Amino acid sequence: MDSLIVLVNTIQRACTVVGDYGGGNNVLSSLWEALPSVAVVGGQSSGKSSVLESIVGRDFLPRGSGIVTRRPLVLQLHKTENGTEDYAEFLHLTNKKFTNFSLVRKEIEDETDRITGKNKQISPIPIHLSIFSPNVVNLTLIDLPGLTKVAVEGQPETIVEDIESMVRSYVEKVGSIAASFYTFLGLPNCLILAISPANQDIATSDAMKLAKEVDPTGDRTFGVLTKLDLMDKGTNALEVIEGRSYRLKYPWVGIVNRSQADINKNVDMMVSRRKEREYFETSPDYGHLATRMGSEYLAKLLSKLLESVIRSRIPSILSLINNNIEELERELDQLGRPVAIDAGAQLYTILGMCRAFEKIFKEHLDGGRPGGAR
Ligand code: GDP
Ligand code: NA
Ligand code: MG
Repeated sequence: MDSLIVLVNTIQRACTVVGDYGGGNNVLSSLWEALPSVAVVGGQSSGKSSVLESIVGRDFLPRGSGIVTRRPLVLQLHKTENGTEDYAEFLHLTNKKFTNFSLVRKEIEDETDRITGKNKQISPIPIHLSIFSPNVVNLTLIDLPGLTKVAVEGQPETIVEDIESMVRSYVEKVGSIAASFYTFLGLPNCLILAISPANQDIATSDAMKLAKEVDPTGDRTFGVLTKLDLMDKGTNALEVIEGRSYRLKYPWVGIVNRSQADINKNVDMMVSRRKEREYFETSPDYGHLATRMGSEYLAKLLSKLLESVIRSRIPSILSLINNNIEELERELDQLGRPVAIDAGAQLYTILGMCRAFEKIFKEHLDGGRPGGAR
């Protein structure tokens, strides 16, 4: 049986293709909203891009100073057989396989500009990118613009609040029926990967400020502390990492990404993953935590957790799909058969998709229970 994350990835892509990322059709957008995801949140330069690249094991994100991420990036990672070559695909460029990851970076930049213009505007319309590699775990992550405190020259005054409300809308999934339903049940639907740099006072972290507001109990926030290697000599981050500064449900994960000098020297991602592991294994401060630190561990932890959150959602996702099917059938009845191609064709497609999703989720519900046949 496929991993549930792979299944949800497939549904998200289908929603995007048919329903204009869910925005074009109520049924698909409600389904899209109901599917759990992981959103990456943090201040500018906190290390978000570096963490994502480290999780992927590839160098592919635009970088630079200022607001580099100006549209959300929905990043779906698909684990492939050992020995196969890494490649990437954009949803807006179907049938084009990228094996050169600097072209992936270029395409993210160009596609950002296509919607926002070159004048540093932001847009909530996401870019969808899939990466296929033997070096990833199955996982969907959403990279969001970095939180910032001041607008730079040439940017509208409102940019600071605009970014914050966009980030909020992703982590809260505001306005969706599914979101209110889950909130009502006290269930998280979006896991928050909250990135803070260790060389700044955690009390000033943009990520933790937002996370505390949207998730006061800390049930769905993953605290990630980057730049451990950049702390002042003689200090360490054990207060934070051992959960004494901010108590979260899941333990904090410390990270050492590539420094700017490493990036300039083009240090390979696989080399930097190994260096990170060595850092923790030999660290006098964090050696005792070494097996629970680093980007590879973080990726596995997120994948496992996302899978279990999705599993816990199957019954409610199924009832949502059932409602959708009923609604679509009613709508098609009203159109009267045979329906005109334009009016009915899309509804038929969506109905067919919903029925297929229903079937697969039911199989998971029956076969995927602990102790069930897998
Ligand atoms: P973003 O703006 O949050 O996406 O941050 P980036 O990932 O682009 O990182 C900003 C800068 O911090 C880059 O120059 C990185 O090389 C550097 N950086 C990020 N994480 C670390 C880390 O753990 N250690 C060191 N030494 N530098 C880091
Ligand atoms: Na920050
Ligand atoms: Mg970035």
